[in-house]
Amino acid sequence: MQVLGIDIGGSGIKGAPVDTNEGQLVTTRHRIPTPDPSLPDAVGDVLAQIARHFDWTGPVGVTFPAVIKAGTACTAANVDKSWIGTNVAELTRAKTGCPALVLNDADAAGIAEMEFGAGKGHDGVVIMLTFGTGIGTAIFVNRQLLPNTELGHMEIRGKEGEQRASDGTRKRKGLTWAGWAKRVNEYIQRMDALFWPDLFIIGGGVANKAEQFLPLLSTRAEIRIAELRNEAGIIGAALAARQLAAGALPDDCRYIRV
Ligand code: BGC
Repeated sequence: MQVLGIDIGGSGIKGAPVDTNEGQLVTTRHRIPTPDPSLPDAVGDVLAQIARHFDWTGPVGVTFPAVIKAGTACTAANVDKSWIGTNVAELTRAKTGCPALVLNDADAAGIAEMEFGAGKGHDGVVIMLTFGTGIGTAIFVNRQLLPNTELGHMEIRGKEGEQRASDGTRKRKGLTWAGWAKRVNEYIQRMDALFWPDLFIIGGGVANKAEQFLPLLSTRAEIRIAELRNEAGIIGAALAARQLAAGALPDDCRYIRV
């Protein structure tokens, strides 16, 4: 089946119809810069524009960079605080006229990687990490998602992990890849000590530059680079929203098993 996947990011909002059987975009994605300020109504208008661009009337899956409970944003670490308490699923339905499901961005990327990318067929404990403006996390146990983990905010020596080791921090501080990798090592080694995963999947914008830092990372667990790159969010959102067409509609991704 086809589902429209939309990935709401800090700089761009990207969408494309996804073939959920193949885990692939059906056509080139459509990208619109994120409105500034990125207030709910303005972002909702962009969602409508993207649906119109594809003449879409079917189910829509949307990622959002925050905790999402039953369609509602509960946190706003790197987005405007007015999102807290906004029902993003309702907003999407109202603006696009389509049935919609919304989930956390890292959870969506993780779902896509587990079903069609670096985690395909991988049982055990898998932790997806997305390095962008913040650090997003998604945990899978035997391919069952534990939704809304916020381990980018795990404290390391008095600071949030994402303040120390996100890609945003690398850029802002002008860190060398080696300097950044040292911070990432500290972060993933702490994660390893607390969760003992079998596999880490590293995604987000940095996945395209893996040769710069992957050889510098060291953990007990296996590390793989995400395979679906900047399409993982769109694909994962669409995969999660398949449930809309199946009739049984959980309002969020609590029960997702890839
Ligand atoms: C947010 C998470 C999000 C991550 C990546 C964090 O700051 O709290 O919800 O998944 O950034 O965008």
